[in-house]
Amino acid sequence: MKNSKSSDSLSDFEEYFESIKNLLLQRFNNIPKAFVRTYGCQQNVYDSEKIKGILHKMGCSFVQTCEEADIIVFNTCAVRKNAEDRVFGNVGALKSLKKKKPNLIIALCGCMTEQDHVAKKINDTFPFVDLVLGTNSIRNFPEFIYEVLTDNKHIFKTKINDVLLYEGTPIRRESKFRAFLPIMYGCDNFCSYCIVPYVRGREKSRASDAILNEFSQLVHEGYKDITLLGQNVNSYGKNLDENINFAKLLRKIDSIPGDYWIRFMTSHPKDATKELIDVMAEGKHICHHLHLPVQSGSNRILNLMNRRYTREKYLEIVHYLKEKIPDISITSDIIVGFPGETYADFCETLSLIKEVEFSSLFTFIYSKREGTPAAKLEDPIPYKEKSEWFKDLLQVQNGLTEKICNSYIGKIVKVLIEGTSANKGYLTARTQGNIIVDLPGSEQLIGKFVKAKITDVQGWFLKGEVI
Ligand code: 5AD
Ligand code: SF4
Repeated sequence: MKNSKSSDSLSDFEEYFESIKNLLLQRFNNIPKAFVRTYGCQQNVYDSEKIKGILHKMGCSFVQTCEEADIIVFNTCAVRKNAEDRVFGNVGALKSLKKKKPNLIIALCGCMTEQDHVAKKINDTFPFVDLVLGTNSIRNFPEFIYEVLTDNKHIFKTKINDVLLYEGTPIRRESKFRAFLPIMYGCDNFCSYCIVPYVRGREKSRASDAILNEFSQLVHEGYKDITLLGQNVNSYGKNLDENINFAKLLRKIDSIPGDYWIRFMTSHPKDATKELIDVMAEGKHICHHLHLPVQSGSNRILNLMNRRYTREKYLEIVHYLKEKIPDISITSDIIVGFPGETYADFCETLSLIKEVEFSSLFTFIYSKREGTPAAKLEDPIPYKEKSEWFKDLLQVQNGLTEKICNSYIGKIVKVLIEGTSANKGYLTARTQGNIIVDLPGSEQLIGKFVKAKITDVQGWFLKGEVI
């Protein structure tokens, strides 16, 4: 049975799910308990929801810790070294657990597993890992678990496959009102510091019909905040035979009736068009938020990063955005200490940040990724110095975030209530600009849109009251 499944129709998987369910019941003498830990970005969060969907179909229940679990899946991230080190540390810690519970099944998936040095390390150092699967092999997860259960050997299945094959596989979403919806997979941009194109493969867009149907279904199920995902959503449609681009897709989605918000990420500035901004401005459901990673404010560094836009082009997009959508919230990613970056280059990043006034930033110190072009560049600035620059960056951004937050005081904004806050007695909500608002209210409001009056600012979040 196990030799011919990878390209079969989905219905054939039912057969697998039944046999796997029985094999798992035999192995654990009970309903198997699964634990899935996700590292990294939203695409990984979505992939984990797919893995949980499959585990659920295999008859698993879910637990919150490794210690309670019969099946452990780590969905890994390779974007920076510290994420990778954390995974290695956490996998190492499973050795004693496997000794205590030899039946335990340990699986690793996600971006790390596609790299040769990681494959080698897992083979050499972590022989107790039962299954290693690549980023685009999620559809084959049942088949591989079947092999683990029947052959009782170490299974290693990486190498990038055709990701669109996982259309239609089951999903178990974390939230009842926020959802991720991938519109494309992979990346063709090869920014010189980035490992993603090597571990997620070439860019591939999903057919627009499949996306529109899934989106309508989510709205029908009551989802309120739906994020379209892709490494560069702005190049959506390039490999399709349809007359479509991202702006057109967004316009079609926006015409679906209902009370919901559309978000999307990530937008590469080189492909951000006026057409896209016009659709955002005219849309009924599109959040007035754009995550537009700039990475650096220096043209010399942007060129070394192979970003294919200039500081001037970036600022032009920002000015058009602000003109068309005055309440736009712009967020970004910044890398500090790219190889060869000087203090003067860094100061250009600071000046760009002050000019744009981002509502918040994701900031990273450059992390060398073997196999990328940047890994071959001279990198003379010591880490300690880069850390000092990094602190300066945070300080500047904190001031700007506070200024933007203060501008909300007294305003009435629509927010989506997401849950209870760490602030006792408060609920936590999000504006369409992705700013957090804490407000008192009944837990029955969770998952609902309300109007809130902003009354105060606490650091990087707002306080308000439901009106
Ligand atoms: N080092 C530091 N940050 C990186 N990013 C991607 N690769 C690296 C790296 N090698 C950051 C970029 C990207 C975000 C998702 O992660 O800012 O936009
Ligand atoms: Fe990495 Fe650049 Fe692709 Fe983003 S666009 S995933 S930074 S290569």
